[in-house]
Amino acid sequence: MSDAAWWRTGAVYQIYPRSFQDSTGNGIGDLPGLRSRLDWVEQLGVSAVWLSPVHPSPQADFGYDVADYCDVDPIFGSLADMDQLIHDCHARGLKVVLDGVFNHTSDQHAWFTASRADKTNAKRDWYIWRDTVPNNWKSTFGGTAWTQDPATGSYYLHSFLPAQPDLNWRNPDVVDAVLDVLRFWFERGVDGFRLDVFNSYLKHPDLPSNPRRWHPGALAYGYVGQHHIHDRDQSDLPEVLGRMRAVADEFGAVLIGETLDEKFRYDRAADFVGDDQLHMAFHFALLHSRWTAKKLATAIRSQLNALPKDGWPTWVLSNHDFQRHPTRWGGGDERAKAAAVIALTLPGTPFLYYGEELGMAEGRLKRADIVDPPGIRFWPVFKGRDGARTPMQWTSEGAFTTGIPWLPLNPDTPWRHAEATANPLSIVHTYRALLALRRNNEALRSGATIWPDTDHADVLSWQRVVASERVRVLVNTVDRSVLVPGEAGTQVLWSTAAVTDVREPLAPNEGRVVRV
Ligand code: GLC
Repeated sequence: MSDAAWWRTGAVYQIYPRSFQDSTGNGIGDLPGLRSRLDWVEQLGVSAVWLSPVHPSPQADFGYDVADYCDVDPIFGSLADMDQLIHDCHARGLKVVLDGVFNHTSDQHAWFTASRADKTNAKRDWYIWRDTVPNNWKSTFGGTAWTQDPATGSYYLHSFLPAQPDLNWRNPDVVDAVLDVLRFWFERGVDGFRLDVFNSYLKHPDLPSNPRRWHPGALAYGYVGQHHIHDRDQSDLPEVLGRMRAVADEFGAVLIGETLDEKFRYDRAADFVGDDQLHMAFHFALLHSRWTAKKLATAIRSQLNALPKDGWPTWVLSNHDFQRHPTRWGGGDERAKAAAVIALTLPGTPFLYYGEELGMAEGRLKRADIVDPPGIRFWPVFKGRDGARTPMQWTSEGAFTTGIPWLPLNPDTPWRHAEATANPLSIVHTYRALLALRRNNEALRSGATIWPDTDHADVLSWQRVVASERVRVLVNTVDRSVLVPGEAGTQVLWSTAAVTDVREPLAPNEGRVVRV
């Protein structure tokens, strides 16, 4: 397997460091803890880890508010711990992807402290300041996107919390500073960046108001009441991304963009990928789909059809921002395994979220447990994202921390945990088997896709084809068994229901991979 293409052939495992493994007993996960759990990650068979942010941060948005891009927050460890982690990962053949949060900084970042001090300082124009509120833009986290700063009386733009001022990407010095941050980490051995809300970097230069849009939720949450044509997705974004790509290419590193889009279509992600832009961009249509064969097929197709020739698909079932999929889709462990078959056998790169290999569900948190700012603001209409961030379930007692975890452990920990994996029907078994199958099966890794393979109303199906081999994937989306017409195949390569005879009907919620 060519190293240069690891991001096409392998899978990426997202770790939310606060919740993976605590080594100090303070209830918050850290880098030494994470390092002690690399056996698990390696045995799963992924190619890379992506860490949610670990930089110095007041943690107003749990690290997505960065106060220094070139260091590590003491709650997570030190720069030396990060060097050690990179070294250990590489020794195991794992790549390391960091989270680049460059649309905004923390209001505690030295750039912003300087910028806010007075109107004439050299960093003033690194952020977006106006003497009066210039438009109707709203914050993604609720309320206006403009906050008045007492030092000068001017207003600054923040697409998220007031504690997360947006950088002014139209200032070339800002772009240069971000490119320097990329180099800093690439020189330390980091293999790529996931770029947080990259499609928001550039705003329309004149900051015009967004047109209004009718939406039933707009009164409570103004962000959905606008067409976001001026505060993101600007047509000159590709140039900026091209400059980032040039730096990444110098180091053979990969750039993965996270698109901000409240419409759940994400088609625009496709506009920003390709040989001279991002390697990949998340397209969350699958994650937001309902669990029916028809809806899932539409969601999958919407990404495959939107991508340019030099694009590459990504598949995400869960991440730190959305309700975990076993809760979202229901259907128990069988459906969780079927979902894994989808993410791991389509053409493209799967991004797995820590704990999904155990079937971890959304945490059921009380109001008093909630720490995520939008959850606090909108409870109980929106309960926030803490439920997707509960501690990794290592043993029947958790074993995440010796102290009090920052979020409570899920109640199913006693029977759903990393040590309870002996059962060949366990979810982690399916993840390991499919990841191994991908590594060894050329059709699954790089084959062309024939889609759809059946028009059965309840079954998703496609084929992956190379000259030497043809593989058929069937996913039964319903709770009853189904016999699908077409070639039965010659060999079951993997069945989430442990079926070995190709002629057997699909079991309820079975995902099956067969050689034909
Ligand atoms: C992205 C992150 C999310 C964060 C936001 C602001 O959407 O995934 O967790 O709150 O950007 O940085």
